[in-house]
Amino acid sequence: MTTTKPEHRRDGMNSYLCVAPDVKLGSDVKLSKFINLYGCEIGDETKIGAFVEVQKNATIGKRCKISSHTFICEGVTIEDNVFIGHGVTFINDRFPRATSAGGKLQTEADWKVERTVVRTGASIGSGSTVLSGLTIGKKAIVGAGSTVTKDVPENAIVAGNPAKILRYMVDNAPADSGAINATE
Ligand SMILES: CC(C)(COP(=O)(O)OP(=O)(O)OC[C@H]1O[C@@H](n2cnc3c(N)ncnc32)[C@H](O)[C@@H]1OP(=O)(O)O)[C@@H](O)C(=O)NCCC(=O)NCCS
Repeated sequence: MTTTKPEHRRDGMNSYLCVAPDVKLGSDVKLSKFINLYGCEIGDETKIGAFVEVQKNATIGKRCKISSHTFICEGVTIEDNVFIGHGVTFINDRFPRATSAGGKLQTEADWKVERTVVRTGASIGSGSTVLSGLTIGKKAIVGAGSTVTKDVPENAIVAGNPAKILRYMVDNAPADSGAINATE
C-alpha cells in the first residue's frame, strides 16, 4: 500500500501505478499497485486496492474504501465513506455499440454518459454490477453478486439479480426482524 506522495501524482507510471497528470488526489489517499486513474477526483484518506480503474469524470469522496478489481467508469459519483467491494462494475451506457451507423468506431460524440451516484455511507458488495443512471441511497447495502437495475432507497439492503429489497437498516446495525420495513 502506498500513501500518495508528490512523485506518485504527476509522473504517470510509478511503482506500477498509472496516475495521469490530470487526476485530483486528496491528502493521504492510499493507493495499492496496478491502479489506473485518469481525469478523476479522489477524496482525502480514500483507499484504493489493486487492479482498480477509475475513468475520467468520475468522482470518489473522502474516506472511501474501493476494493481490488473494481471498475468505476465515467459519470459515476461516489460520495464520502462509501465501501465498494471487490470486482464491482459500474455501467454508463445502457445500449452500447462499438460502431456508429456509418460503420466507424464510435467516438464520444456518438453516445451519452448516463450518470450514477452512490450516496454517503453506502456499501456495494463484491461482484456486483450497477447499471447506469441510478442512485444508491445513503447507507444502503447492496449484497454480493447483485445486479442493481433500479434506484436503491436510503438504508435499504438489496440483493440478487435483479436486486430486490430484503429489508432496511436501523441506524448503523442491520434491522432485526422487528425492524423490517419492507420486502419487495
Ligand atoms: C446482502 C447481505 C448484507 C444480507 O445479509 P443478511 O441480512 O445477514 O442476510 P441473510 O443472510 O439473513 O439472508 C436473507 C435472505 O437474502 C438472501 N441473500 C443474502 N445475501 C444475498 C446475496 N448477496 N445475493 C442474493 N441473495 C442473498 C439469503 O439467501 C436469504 O434468502 P432467504 O430468506 O430466501 O433464505 C449479505 O448477504 C451480503 O451479500 N453482504 C455483502 C458482503 C460483501 O460483498 N462484502 C465485501 C467485502 S468481502
